[in-house]
Amino acid sequence: MKIALASDHAGFRLKERIKEYLARKGIMYEDFGTFDEEPVDYPDLAYKAASAVQKEVCGRGILVCGTGIGVAIAANKLKGIRAALCSDHFSASCARAHNDANILTLGARVIEDELALQIVDIFLETPFDGGRHLKRIKKIEMLENENCLK
Ligand code: RB5
Repeated sequence: MKIALASDHAGFRLKERIKEYLARKGIMYEDFGTFDEEPVDYPDLAYKAASAVQKEVCGRGILVCGTGIGVAIAANKLKGIRAALCSDHFSASCARAHNDANILTLGARVIEDELALQIVDIFLETPFDGGRHLKRIKKIEMLENENCLK
């Protein structure tokens, strides 16, 4: 599974650390930018990586900005994207097991690099639980299709 990576300028340094980490673990990735610390607009970068996940060019995505909030909001505008901002182990585990999150977002100005890398591990290794959670994901898909829920 290939991972789509992207960040804005605030997330650039952590994205580079995540790249090194994935490479060391032999995990394939595609870097959609940004490629330096010049200011950029996070929706542009979030869109590039989230599109790759949406089109199944990449199996999952990891997006980084200052807080992780902007990239999460932007990525979640794309149909089929379930982007989860995680700043702790438990949220990362639930984002996969309960929400089947296909994108992890991280706040480079919020958490330390080591914690971010641990969260990346949990996000990549935790399977979706399915079962009762699947029904809830289906309801999110209904919302995407602008169908009313009963
Ligand atoms: C950039 O200064 C900052 O606003 C951005 O990285 C992010 O935190 C937005 O949500």
